[in-house]
Order: sequence, then structure tokens, then C-alpha cells
Amino acid sequence: MKNAMKPIQVGLLGIGTVGGGTFAVLKRNQEEIRRRAGRGIQVTMVADLDVARARSLVGDAAAVVADAREVIANPDIDVVVELIGGYGIAKTLVLEAIAAGKHVVTANKALLAVHGTEIFAAAHKKGVMVAFEAAVAGGIPIIKSLREGLTANSIQWVAGIINGTTNFILSEMRDKGLDFDVVLKEAQRLGYAEADPTFDIEGVDAAHKATLMSAIAFGIPVQFDKAYVEGITQLGAQDIQYAEQLGYRIKLLGIAKRREGASSGIELRVHPSLVPAKRLIANVEGAMNAVMVHGDAVGTTLYYGKGAGSEPTASAVIADLVDIARLHDASAEQRVPHLAFQPDAMSDLPVLPMDEVVTSYYLRLRVADQAGVLARVTGILAEAGISIDAVLQREAREVGGEGSTQTDVIILTHDTREGTMNGAIAKMQALPTVLAGITRIRKEELA
Ligand code: NDP
Ligand code: HSE
Repeated sequence: MKNAMKPIQVGLLGIGTVGGGTFAVLKRNQEEIRRRAGRGIQVTMVADLDVARARSLVGDAAAVVADAREVIANPDIDVVVELIGGYGIAKTLVLEAIAAGKHVVTANKALLAVHGTEIFAAAHKKGVMVAFEAAVAGGIPIIKSLREGLTANSIQWVAGIINGTTNFILSEMRDKGLDFDVVLKEAQRLGYAEADPTFDIEGVDAAHKATLMSAIAFGIPVQFDKAYVEGITQLGAQDIQYAEQLGYRIKLLGIAKRREGASSGIELRVHPSLVPAKRLIANVEGAMNAVMVHGDAVGTTLYYGKGAGSEPTASAVIADLVDIARLHDASAEQRVPHLAFQPDAMSDLPVLPMDEVVTSYYLRLRVADQAGVLARVTGILAEAGISIDAVLQREAREVGGEGSTQTDVIILTHDTREGTMNGAIAKMQALPTVLAGITRIRKEELA
């Protein structure tokens, strides 16, 4: 073993939830990590705005500074680990670190999903690595699986529960009947939620991650601006119950899917989805994450684990550090490309507009409990060429109590174009017997 090799020197920018975990795990497992990496990995400098707290965490094992630029300017630092978050100062620091010839490790999916093209191009030009295993699904090695383990495959689709906060909220609401706000506060206390939790609950964080997976799976540039994003804030408790009665669970899924044929391209979308309760992924609860990948050779694979939290995320950050330690002295050509495909061999498949997405649907209509209502609704669907898979009609008294004149009709459809469904929903909504906004939740069989 190359015991004599000089340890890799790491500068940590931000020692909060993930930075703290990274420092602690590197310290605890340093000997085992050194045996794997072939050389030591030492955090020798830490920058954090809260210098006193940072000092209390690292003791005298590393120099602590308030100004991250001091870390970047230090010629002894080989790798800069950015764990600040956001697209602001983090972007500037990452680009400055690259310009200074440092390798970069980051858990910052927001930064890479929005500015990845610029950052990867800068790294390629400078001949340094930007590693980001922790940016998608926390501790699950999904980037390595997609980029290396599944490299033989033409990937057909990727679908995952990739936001721990929302999965935690949906699980707690369903199992314990707790209120949305109460569970969100708990997710924040546990360190799962983003600095701005609207990123979690509105699906933005999952869309950042889905964007990164789409780039690696299909060799397309990162295009967060083209992703369809819908969170869980509009989900009603009754839809969670109706879905259960129909044999489904509702999960916030990030989906990237290859579409062949006339309008070929990539579907890139995040939204609540009905998933058959018998699928393993439907039973992924709490802050756990899971990603399904379907490749033409391997078939469907599933990756499961902790998608957030201090040490699970640190596990992924450190895996990147070990990769960099091993490849530090290798030439740039010997490295795995950032987005799995060689930079000059990327695909120009477009990300499809949402109207072109094809999926099946759960529709809930609050209707007047009168003869002929269901026939008019199904007539509109038939006219649009939308095929019905199942219909469930509640008894009016179950919905509105004794004497109620309203009821819920739930319709499951077969696959149809989103644009076609939008047209049909508009027509159904205009019926005088449809008494409230129609709820539409997309349905994924994931088979
Ligand atoms: P935290 O807010 O816990 O930590 C960020 C740290 O950076 C804080 O200590 C903050 O100091 C410090 N900081 C802010 N600005 C600067 C600056 N200019 N220079 C130096 N330090 C600075 O965030 P997390 O650890 O939760 O997240 C870090 C990154 O990891 C984010 O990109 C996040 O999306 C990502 N991530 C987080 C996961 C998680 O489970 N938490 C999981 C996967 C990815 P102060 O507090 O004083 O402002
Ligand atoms: N806020 C994110 C989540 C952290 O809840 O999944 C992990 O990326």
C-alpha cells in the first residue's frame, strides 16, 4: 500500500449539519478510510461564519477561519468541500476553487442543477474534479450507480423518492394523522429540511435532484428550468385515503423518463404520484429515500437508504473524497466524466414540455348526487379518447354526512397525454354538476 503518500488536504467550507457530520466521520473512521483511499484524508482548514461554533467542533485538529477565500487561497489545500448551500456565495466560491486548481466536493444540488453546465465546463477546462454524490439522495450511492454501475445500459427511466422531508411529512400525516405544519417543524428540527423549506414542500429540491439524475442517466445537460415541479402542499387528506382504498400510496416522485417515437425526448417532472401499494418503493417511509432505475439490460433496480441527515450525507461526501484521493495523481482522461458521458458526446434529446408527458391519472370530482352526472363525466373522457381503468363513487352521506346532496367520484385512467387530459378536465370542470375544483394526481405503475 502507498503508505508513504502525503495525505490529501481538505478545506471545509461550512460546518453545519453535513459539514459537522463529514468532520466527525472522517475523524472516527480515519484509519479505515486511509486503508481504502491509499492515503490519509485530513481536514486541515475549516471556514464558517460562526467561528466559535466551528472551533468547538474541530478543536485544534484544523485551522478555523471566517473567510472561505482563505481556504481557497491556501496552496496546501487539495480539495475544497462546499457545504454552505444555495446559489449565491456557494457558486462564487466553487468557481474560485476550480480556478485555483482545487478539486471540489459539494452536496449542493441547487447549485449544480441550476449552474451545473457552467461549473462542469470550468472544471473540465481546468482539469479538476467536481464530485457530488451527496447532492442526490443523501447517503445512497445513486450517482455512482448511474454513472458507473449501470454504464452498460440504455437507461429507460429513473423514478425516486428523493426528498426526505416530504416523504417524512406524507408518512407522518398518513400514519399518525398529524398536521402538515407540525411534521414540517419536526423535519426541520431533525436537520432534513433545506434552509428554505419551501424548496422541500413545493418539490423544488426533488426537482434539483431529478435534474441531476436526468443528466447522468441520459447524457443531457442539466436543465432545471425545463423541469415540471409540483409539491405536496395542495394534497388533501381524503386523496391519501381514497388512494389507499384503491390499492395505492401517494409519494412525491422525481421522474426522468426517455420517450421514443414521434415526439422523442426526456420527461423531467416532480409531482405527487399514486404508486401501487405492493411496490417496494410505496413502502418507503419517513425520511428514507429510494430510487428505481430501469435499464434495458439490467431491468429494474432499486436503491434505498437515508436521503438526508448529518452522517448519512457525510457518508457520500467522504466517498467522493476517497475517489479524489485515489485519482488525484491520475490524468484527467482516466477519470469518470462528471455527467457519465464524455463532454463532447452529450445528447441533444430535448426535455419535453409537460403537455407531451404520457401517464395515467387519478381524478377526484366533487359532484351533485344526481342521475346522469357520471355519464356526462365519462362521456367527456370518452370524447377525448381517454380510457377509464376504474371508477369509485362514494355514498353521499359518507362524504357530506346524513342528507348530503354531494358526493365524490374517483376515476383512474389509462395512459394519456397530459395536454389531452388538461382539455378534458377543463370541460368536466365547466359542468354545472361539478361543484369544486377537480383534483388530478398522476399515477405511475413503475413496472
Ligand atoms: P447548514 O445550514 O446546516 O450548514 C451550512 C453552514 O455553512 C452553516 O454552518 C453556515 O454558518 C455556514 N456558512 C454560511 N455561509 C457561509 C460562508 N459564506 N462561509 C462559510 N460558511 C458559511 O446546511 P446543511 O449542512 O444542512 O447543508 C449543506 C449543503 O448540503 C446544502 O447544499 C444542502 O442542500 C446539502 N444537503 C443537505 C442535507 C441534509 O440532510 N442537511 C442532505 C444532502 C445535501 P451559519 O450557520 O453561521 O450561517
Ligand atoms: N432537504 C433535503 C431532503 C435534504 O429533505 O431530502 C437532503 O437533500
